Parts: sequence; structure tokens; C-alpha cells
Amino acid sequence: MSTLMHAAGVEAFGDPLRELELPRPVAKDGEVLVRVRAAAVNPADAGMVAGRYRWAEPVRFPLVPGYDVAGEDAATGAPVVAFTLHKATQRGGYAQFVALPADLVVPLPDGADPVAAAALPLAGLTAWQALDALGDGVRTLHVNGRGAVGAFAKALAPGRGLEVVDDGPVDAAVDVVGGERARQAFARVRDGGRYVTVVPEFWVPGGPFAAERGIGPRVVSARYDRTQLLGVVERFAAGTLRPAIGDVLPLAEAAEAHRRLSRGVRGKLVLEVGSA
Ligand SMILES: NC(=O)c1ccc[n+]([C@@H]2O[C@H](COP(=O)([O-])OP(=O)(O)OC[C@H]3O[C@@H](n4cnc5c(N)ncnc54)[C@H](OP(=O)(O)O)[C@@H]3O)[C@@H](O)[C@H]2O)c1
Repeated sequence: MSTLMHAAGVEAFGDPLRELELPRPVAKDGEVLVRVRAAAVNPADAGMVAGRYRWAEPVRFPLVPGYDVAGEDAATGAPVVAFTLHKATQRGGYAQFVALPADLVVPLPDGADPVAAAALPLAGLTAWQALDALGDGVRTLHVNGRGAVGAFAKALAPGRGLEVVDDGPVDAAVDVVGGERARQAFARVRDGGRYVTVVPEFWVPGGPFAAERGIGPRVVSARYDRTQLLGVVERFAAGTLRPAIGDVLPLAEAAEAHRRLSRGVRGKLVLEVGSA
């Protein structure tokens, strides 16, 4: 078995992604070595390689991006999906293998499509936590985008007794777009209602994070929660969460995937990762 693996990453912030040959990681005690079959390409991955991202420690290069992977536990062959928690681990999913703390790796049902599963963790956790941030007493909800986070938030909402409505005033809005669309979403919220954004850099009404009409903005920055990821996978298995997949590209075309991301996507871009 080769001790090297293919990956995609950068040697410095701002470089285009390129193919890398790196030592295959070894799982330490308490870790799982994941054989990656698919890695999702998230908007944050572009910010990560550009250097617009905060890590817990100084970045070690080469930097391999990627939060979301699906594949198998290399030791057992069991299908898994994982969140890389890059902020803490600096271990990215754009690679044939990634070793991760076992807590970050959750089982997938046998036969699950790894391409679809790879689209779950970051967007699923973000949508879940955006709905949690609404608090109690919300009946009607507006979600202002159709991307991965928006679609998951809409799909999870009915299970929490929330009605997603397209017109008129609402008890609460979740912003997944920013900019003018954030203003429009905010304008839909009734006085004293709730407003949650996952795109805080675009917050504007009333000034930076100031309350207006009794609506205090709540900002969600996705954090890892194993129970929530298990809940996301459970709903995926039940058919409640159906990731919309756009293009599927081989790992070797990671740079092209980021170019497409910068032009805007319809559905999640996913890198398919072949065997060593
Ligand atoms: N705070 C956090 O922790 C956190 C975590 C994850 C993501 N985010 C941020 O949240 C935002 C949304 O992320 P995302 O993963 O949802 O992005 P995404 O899937 O790439 O979607 C971005 C936009 O692309 C369009 N789009 C994508 N798929 C579509 C589809 N199937 N049909 C129609 N339009 C589609 C939508 O535009 P329209 O809405 O114009 O239709 C959507 O708003 C990004 O700014 C991201 O950086 C924040």
C-alpha cells in the first residue's frame, strides 16, 4: 500500500489550489482514518485558502481545505460522514484520506450515496443551529435563499412546528444570503420578532448588530455538535433532508471547482475522490 496520497491544497494563502502528494495520515489513539470518497466544496473553503479565516493555531502549510467528507472508516470499511472541524484540526477533506478525532466521524447507513452525504455536515449543522437560534414562540418563518443552508433550514423547519411562508409578515427570518436580500428578509419580520443571520458580514439595518423595531439580530457561526450531526444524518436517511448536488468533479479538478464556486453555483459542488 502506498504511504503517499493525493490531495489538493495551497502552499501559501491566495495561491490557486494544486494537486499535492502528501504522506498518508495515520490515525492516532481516539482517531479514525477516513478513506474519503467525496468532499463537499463550501463557500467557506474559498475564504480558507484566501486566508480570510481564523484558525485556533497558526496555519501549517500546505493547507488542505475542506470541512465535509463522506467515505469509509479505513480500518473497518464502514460507511461514514465527517466534519473536519478545520479550525481546530487543520485537516482538510480535499484528500484521499483524513485522520480525525472519532467524535467528528459518524456512521452512515449502508448504501448511502457518499456524494450526497458529503453535502450534509457544514450546511446541515448551520441550518440546525440557525433554527435553534430562533428560540421559542416562532410560528412563521422566512428563509431568504435556496442554497444548501437555506434549503436545509426550510426542510427542517416543519419538524419544529415552523411554517415556512413566502409572503407577508413573519415571526422570524433566517438570512443565508446577506446584502440587500438580508435587508429584505429583515423587513419581513414583525416588530419584536426574531432575525438570525449566518452571513454576519452583511448585517446592516440599524448599524452593525444594533437592534431595530425590537428585533435583535442573532448571528450563527457553525460549531460542531455530534448529536446534531447524527440528527442531520438521520433525517437524510429518512428522506427529509435531500442535498441538491450541482457539479461533481474529480479531486484533481479542485481548482476548477473553486473557480465555479466564485461564479455562483446551483447545488453543492462535490469532489469525487478515487482510490489510492
Ligand atoms: N455562519 C456559518 O457558520 C456559515 C456556515 C455555512 C455557510 N455560511 C454562509 O452561508 C451562505 C450560504 O451558504 P450555502 O452553503 O448555502 O451556499 P450555496 O449552497 O453555495 O448557495 C449560495 C447561493 O447559490 C444559489 N444556489 C445554490 N444552490 C442552489 C439551488 N439548488 N437552487 C437555486 N439556487 C441555488 C442560491 O442563490 P439564491 O439564494 O440567490 O437563489 C444560494 O443563496 C454563504 O455565504 C456561506 O459562507 C455560513
